[in-house]
This record gives sequence, structure tokens and C-alpha cells, in this order.
Amino acid sequence: MLHSTRILLIIGGGIAAYKALDLIRRLQDRGARVRCILTAAAQKFITPLAAAALCGERAYVDLFDTESELDVGHIRLARETDLVIVAPATADLMAKMRGGQADDLATAVMLATDRPILIAPAMNPRMWAAHATQRNLAQLVADGVRVVGPNSGEMAERGEAGVGRMAEPGEIAAAAEEVLRGHGSLSGTRVLVTSGPTHEPIDPVRFIANRSSGKQGHAIAAAAAAAGAAVVLVSGPVDVADPPGVSVVKVETASQMLEAVKRALPADAAIFAAAVADWRVEHASANKIKKQQGRAQRLELVENPDILATIAGRKNGRPRLVIGFAAETENVIANAKAKLVKKGCDWILANDVSSQTGIMGGDNNAIHLVTASGVESWPPQSKDAVARTLIGRLAAALAKAKP
Ligand code: C5P
Repeated sequence: MLHSTRILLIIGGGIAAYKALDLIRRLQDRGARVRCILTAAAQKFITPLAAAALCGERAYVDLFDTESELDVGHIRLARETDLVIVAPATADLMAKMRGGQADDLATAVMLATDRPILIAPAMNPRMWAAHATQRNLAQLVADGVRVVGPNSGEMAERGEAGVGRMAEPGEIAAAAEEVLRGHGSLSGTRVLVTSGPTHEPIDPVRFIANRSSGKQGHAIAAAAAAAGAAVVLVSGPVDVADPPGVSVVKVETASQMLEAVKRALPADAAIFAAAVADWRVEHASANKIKKQQGRAQRLELVENPDILATIAGRKNGRPRLVIGFAAETENVIANAKAKLVKKGCDWILANDVSSQTGIMGGDNNAIHLVTASGVESWPPQSKDAVARTLIGRLAAALAKAKP
């Protein structure tokens, strides 16, 4: 149900705009209060009057209309809502959103809002499949925008069929409920995440490291922040951007990571997604080691601290939920089960990173969630989707085990 939630519905210009009117009703049936913005193109298909009649208040159309700016204004429209829904989200609106354009009321409000945004794309199947639209979609998803549909079927144009039909109003309303359930589910909690590789110096120009892009750990930190947690992300050197709304501590080595993790505690949950180097060079050289003809350099290695095991084994101040990853190339589940016990953590997310899976550095991940009570295999999904699924599970587990 959407009881006492406020929804801002942005109606884009497509033939599916008429279904947006039905969507207003569906959202109201679930208890939501709906406000509408119509783009200029939307007004070619439906009128502001129709939307206003259904909403029970005026529909907003113009960024430069003195009356509506003095009345509510685009910043209040962006803030006085719990969720923004864009339906239909046209190819053009998606491109503008991706680029951060703000030259009309709809796009200015989307740029100004800090509330979740759910889009229901609708367009001709060729426009949907176009590289540009798919690029825009991928970026919007990476920016945290949620998507429902499009479905496949007949288009409004005669003889056109394929993927591009807007999701049905009932499906969009259900997706809105799901987004709002996740949002705020971690408010009041502290979550610690490690991400990326560590670099262990050999000398000032050389280091030992693991292959890790940081994509999964950063996505988890972003999803936890989106769910309302106060998040500290301790990250090794990565090329991915800092997630929005997260406090990021940048480190190089495993020892620095352990210190930063200890400083970031206490936390309700800790997720260790970093690929920490197992060893470091015992005596890193202060100067660049010179190549000596015909004689290879010998390096004396010592073991790094196991950050996950250290925190999981704490007597005092152990986070209520300690979660590790196991990147395996064979016997994935058996190794993960053994790791759960050895490290003393609560959950292990195991993934098969053998080279044929393309998981290392890629955007998708296939996860097995290993806990004391069993194994659950998730269907292959994007690292962002894995992050959201994990955060959903984590919120449910923390709610059950309230201190
Ligand atoms: O032992 P292994 O490296 O396979 O364990 C992987 C898990 O342990 C990951 O969650 C990783 O972040 C964590 N880890 C750690 N400190 C280490 C090694 C691994 O926190 N030194």
C-alpha cells in the first residue's frame, strides 16, 4: 500500500500518456496523493485539465510560469514528494535525464530531487533497442534510477510489435510500492563496506595487487545509502566514482584498510567486498629497486591481516551482521561454506570468477548466498541488482534481530 505517500508523476509525450491517467487512479486506490507534471510533448496527447481533475489539484507544466513558481515552484515540487514516477518515459526524456539537462519543468525537477525516481519507458521497439537509448538506460540505472518495463507486445502504430510498450498502470503502481519499501529500510543504521583491491608496495613504483574493479563493493555502498543507512566505504585504489551520499575513506594497503575499518566502527552491519592482497613485501624498498642483469629480485612476503576475520572475531563491538565475499574458480559452494566457518562471519556471497564467466571487471554477477542455514543461488544479474537484493536481505535481517 502507498498510504499517505506523496507521488510526483511526470507524464512524458507519447501515445502511452493516456495510460498515465489510469495510473493516477491506481496510485490513489493504494492510498497515494498524486501531483502531476506534463511535459510540452505530453500536452499533445492529454490535457493538463484531465490530469488536474484526477489529481484534485492543478497540473504543473511550465518552469517559467510565474504563477506556479510563486505557488509551489520547481524546488518544492522536487522536495514535497516521496517518489518521482516518469510515465511514459520517452527516449527523449531518458536522454535528457542522463545528460542532467534542466530546460523544462520536468527535467529541472528530476535534477533537483533527492527522492527515488522510477521510470516506465515507452517507445517504438527500434527506438528502445537503439544503442543511444540502451546507453542512456545503463547510465540511468547506474545513477540509481529504477525501471519498470517496457513490455513486449503490439504497439499503438499499426503493424509494429516488439519490446517498447509501457508497463501497465497496475505494474507501475506495484513497482512504486517496491521502491518505497526498500527506501528508508535502513534508516537509522550504520553500514560499513570495503571495496576495491589493496596495493602493497614493493618499492615506490611497483606493487602487488589483486584484480578488482570495486564495482560490486561501490554498488553495495550506494544501495545501502539509497536505503537510508549512514554508510562508510573504505576503498582501495579504484577507477569507479565515489557513490553519492556515502562517506568514502581512501586507502592503499591492507594494513591501512584494517585501521580505517576499525576507526569506522561501530556499525550495525559490515560488508567486506574488497579484494585484499594476501601478502605484502616485508621490507618495501624506499628507492626503486634496480634491475640487475641476469639476477631476478627475491621478495620476502609476509601475510596481511585478515580484515574480515578480525572484525568477525571481535568480542566487543562486533557488527550484528558481518558479511564476506568468496571469489572462487572451482568448488564454489564447498569453499564458501568452509570460508564461512573459518572467518566466523554470518553470510558469504560466493561467486564463480573463473575466466569464462566474465564476472571479473564485468557488470554482471551470479551469487550464491551461503549462511549457517543453507545456500541460496540468485539468478545472474547486474552488480547493481545484486547490491539491491543484498541490501533488501540485510534490512530484513537487521529488522528481525533488533538489539
Ligand atoms: O580468504 P579470501 O580472500 O578468499 O576471503 C575473501 C573475503 O575475506 C572477502 O570478503 C574479503 O573482503 C575478505 N578479506 C579481508 N582481508 C583479507 C583477505 C580477505 O577482509 N586480508
